[in-house]
Amino acid sequence: MATDAPLWLFGYGSLIWRPDFVYLHRETAVLHGWKRRFWQGSTDHRGLPGAPGRVVTLLPESGAQVWGTAYAIAAEQGKTLLARLDHREKGGYARHRLTLHLPESGRSLEALVYVATPANPNYLGPAPLAAMVTTMARASGPSGPNHEYVTRLADAVRAMGARDEHLFTLEQHLRERLGQVAPDIADGD
Ligand code: BEZ
Repeated sequence: MATDAPLWLFGYGSLIWRPDFVYLHRETAVLHGWKRRFWQGSTDHRGLPGAPGRVVTLLPESGAQVWGTAYAIAAEQGKTLLARLDHREKGGYARHRLTLHLPESGRSLEALVYVATPANPNYLGPAPLAAMVTTMARASGPSGPNHEYVTRLADAVRAMGARDEHLFTLEQHLRERLGQVAPDIADGD
């Protein structure tokens, strides 16, 4: 008897290190043609109304790539999970269906990806580096400090052996601002 195919979901933010759902399988994944940016405001997780933190979204850009984690979720749990994530991301994300490449297994597959809509009320867009670092150093919300979100994401992306200059630059400046010792991010070449 045929079973329903699993639902695939791409995590490129906190879902990389803190998936709060049951999954069948996880694998490092690359999304080509998009870049990760801290352009979405968070007033319910890493900031507060009137003092938003900055969390990630994706922007299309030819030649760019985003490393993250692909999760396979059992079909019978997919609907409930999506309803939960839709509620969690109600601050301004829309679901897209995009093709991921999975370097470990060499597979390509379609996955659901949450991307912030530029017209959403929490969208912050770009800002000078220093201003972004100041926001991230100060903002905090029910899920914890904004700076923790940034440094944990940088640690998780580094652990994949991937690079993300926007993320690593923010991390470095943020750690300096917070007086934290920066990890050795040199890649040896
Ligand atoms: C994540 O990967 O953690 C994520 C990013 C944007 C919206 C929802 C989840």
